[in-house]
Amino acid sequence: MLFPVTYRVNAAGHMEIGGCDLLALAREHGTPLYVYDEETVRSRCREFKSAMGTRGDVLYSAKAFYSPQFLRVVAEEGLGLDVVSAGELAVALRAGYPPDRVYFLGNNKSREDVADAHRAGATLVIDGWYEFDLLSSIVPAGERMRCEVRLSPGVKPETHEYIATGQLDSKFGFSIESGDARRAVERALAHDRVELVGLHSHIGSQIFDLRGHAAAMAIMLDLVAELKHDLGFEPERLGAGGGLGIAYTSEDDPPTPREFVETLLGALDSGLAARGLKTPELVVEPGRSIAGPAGVALYTVGSIKDIPGVRRYVAVDGGMGDNIRPKLYGARYEAFLASDPDGEPAAQPVTVAGKYCESTDVLVADAKLPDMAPGAVICIPASGAYQMTMASNYNGMPRPAVLMVRDGIDRLIRRRETLSDLTAAEVF
Ligand SMILES: Cc1ncc(COP(=O)(O)O)c(C=O)c1O
Repeated sequence: MLFPVTYRVNAAGHMEIGGCDLLALAREHGTPLYVYDEETVRSRCREFKSAMGTRGDVLYSAKAFYSPQFLRVVAEEGLGLDVVSAGELAVALRAGYPPDRVYFLGNNKSREDVADAHRAGATLVIDGWYEFDLLSSIVPAGERMRCEVRLSPGVKPETHEYIATGQLDSKFGFSIESGDARRAVERALAHDRVELVGLHSHIGSQIFDLRGHAAAMAIMLDLVAELKHDLGFEPERLGAGGGLGIAYTSEDDPPTPREFVETLLGALDSGLAARGLKTPELVVEPGRSIAGPAGVALYTVGSIKDIPGVRRYVAVDGGMGDNIRPKLYGARYEAFLASDPDGEPAAQPVTVAGKYCESTDVLVADAKLPDMAPGAVICIPASGAYQMTMASNYNGMPRPAVLMVRDGIDRLIRRRETLSDLTAAEVF
């Protein structure tokens, strides 16, 4: 699924999502513009929830994209939330997210992070020894904070190395292999301010091959069996993290949310039976696979540069400032003309470049696009995750506006930044 579920080519021959013509939206709101299809967000949430049924819990990983109105849609669908900073927590709380559905993760939480999580009534996912000291000084005597311990199962999934977080050499989690995970659980159980409710893991992101998740589950269950035998502890919740990949190009064929959840439930059930353990709630926390397919990015073409015998550069009005992924991970995308998505591609592919002062500011290296002139609007699908949340003001560029569309109505959920936003924090 490269496009949002409501995608179609309308009578004018233009791209349309949520009943809204993308060319018209670009003209009305300007570009770069991010457009989220509400129906896709809801249907992805529902697919995870219905696959999970009563067997566990689905959290949305806010880091993928977290505007207040977006989070309200996710909350309405009944998902919990994973946040990783006091900032993400503050946005979630202001959006009205139920605090008891919020899980606070992160490998180097500050005192403020832990204090805010505690004040809000969120659950803390402990990811380092230092946090036990923070808990001692923040949680009042006689009180216990709901906590989980983040494990590192030591599995390296098939993904780009920079987004793999489960292997031994990782800044995340207590390693099972080294014995740290067991020691962390012992410490949590002995800690007078901790109520240990679960164990957590996350092995990586943009994963298509789910064998890594199944392998991680087996490794975690070995630890659970050891903890039960030696310490009498069995977790209520067992977290397998997020990581389900999405299609960024029409060649990509990722598993569905249902396949993801069912693979994990299968690995959990067979592992429990083999070890004689009681059944915990399975927890998954997808980010990309909910927000990613729901969002498209729109850009307007400006300068077109031909280098005979080499390539044609088509420069757009955004780039690495709103989408760092090609530069950061070598991520690949496909581009379409909003006015003519099925148009015959020109003889030579073009390079869709951004407007930032870096040679590597390229959004799509070999885009198969029809011939076009300045003013054309280019749509890049699968732009909903890790783009706006990683956006910067590099080169003094304001961040784009964001719309949510549904049933032919578009609503602004984040306004375009202005030049005064750029100087708002400066001291003159
Ligand atoms: C701990 C944790 N959980 C969940 C996620 C969400 O992963 P994804 O967006 O790949 O589903 C991440 C992302 O890196 C993460 O670090």
